[in-house]
Amino acid sequence: MNRVFIKTYGCQMNERDSEAVAAMLRGKGYSIVDQEMDADVILLNTCSVREQAEQKAIGKAGHIASRKRKNPNLIVGVMGCMAQNRGADLLDSLPDLDLIVGTQKFHRVPEHLENVIASLKGQGPRPDTIVDLEAEDGSQNTIDTHLEDGPQITAFVSIMQGCNMNCSYCIVPKTRGPERARPIEAIVEEVEQLAANGTREVTLLGQIVNQYAVREFPVVDRKSPFVQLLERINEIDGIERIRFTSPHPVGFREDLIECYARLPKLCEYLHFPMQSGSDRILKAMRRPYTVERFRRIIDRIREVCPGIYISTDVIVGFPGETEEDFELTRQHFDDIGFDMAYLFKYSVRPGTTAEPLGDPVPVEVKEERNQILIDILGKNSLTRNESLIGSVEEVLLEGPARRGEGMYVGRTRGYRKVIVPASPRLVGQLLPVRIEKATISSLFGQLVLQEE
Ligand code: 5AD
Ligand code: SF4
Repeated sequence: MNRVFIKTYGCQMNERDSEAVAAMLRGKGYSIVDQEMDADVILLNTCSVREQAEQKAIGKAGHIASRKRKNPNLIVGVMGCMAQNRGADLLDSLPDLDLIVGTQKFHRVPEHLENVIASLKGQGPRPDTIVDLEAEDGSQNTIDTHLEDGPQITAFVSIMQGCNMNCSYCIVPKTRGPERARPIEAIVEEVEQLAANGTREVTLLGQIVNQYAVREFPVVDRKSPFVQLLERINEIDGIERIRFTSPHPVGFREDLIECYARLPKLCEYLHFPMQSGSDRILKAMRRPYTVERFRRIIDRIREVCPGIYISTDVIVGFPGETEEDFELTRQHFDDIGFDMAYLFKYSVRPGTTAEPLGDPVPVEVKEERNQILIDILGKNSLTRNESLIGSVEEVLLEGPARRGEGMYVGRTRGYRKVIVPASPRLVGQLLPVRIEKATISSLFGQLVLQEE
């Protein structure tokens, strides 16, 4: 009864939480399997950011739970944002769940699982569903273990939990609670350990990373705690590349902008959510910046780091978004020339401040606006990728590509995916690759042979 399969929905934060749970379980003697059908325990780590994400996970959980009729020993749990958001109400539609574990309780999964397994082995009645959703002081410090099966070339590191912003559309403050930062030393230690095990690239994760520890730690030499953290990570031997996600325009100051010139390991890539190009809508979203301010930050970053790759998040169809509002989003989106973007159709979330506004923009209009942005993105991204043909890019080789014998996948510092013929011994190395072909999403090239 010790084979566990974890399926993850949603953001990178969730991926990281799932990895930490997997590592904790492995430490207790469980094995982590890649195939659901091989598992005795199935855990779904869920997302609530849009209704659709929740429906997907509920559908999946229902499907898995129905297998219990044939295999009563199968253990099924739901963790993460949707567990937190819906809590025990999930049992109305999913009465067979064994576990419902909230976003501050991931580290309790091993203990809960042990209890369920003990009762299945006849040492007690099968317990009622274990529902564990309380807030827990210090839970941000529990997401610090990694799976150590061979070197993890790139790794996520969770530096904080929760969010204190008040975006009117967003359920995250409800599912993840208020901001809580980990101490700098603990994060540095974790990254040092990763580096010692072969990690070359880290992505620092938080809901709003540039807010990292603003209340806990002082500004030193006009540098925010987040900048202090970046400086420390930049000094760690073995780490070659640093990324982070996501920052917020509020508090994106000169100290952080200058890091792009100062810290050689900080990659020329920034994920910077715009959400809308209309000030009126930004205000309704309770995003406390104007599009002009957003663009000034980007201009300034581009001055310091010409050619930086920038991606964003945009929501179309927020309540009250008119043709004129969308036209502004379209124009700014095109002008800025994002290299990548996550485009979302607005979804009403219960308990948010925008909930009472309803969902007045028809779904066809949302689809149409979404498609317009997809087309612009495709055009800009392809132009940017094609401009790299003939040039040599530094690629961190991450592992075999999904398709193609002898093909490997890696990324440039700008986070562009590169497919290249290579060999297993080169995995984990930074390699010069001459780019020969480009599509919207990928680059293809050849290793530039180096003198040995
Ligand atoms: N509807 C649509 N998209 C949303 N996002 C957050 N909440 C919603 C919602 N209610 C998007 C935002 C955020 C990203 C993670 O998800 O763009 O940056
Ligand atoms: Fe991540 Fe937000 Fe989805 Fe939670 S609700 S999983 S924080 S995207």
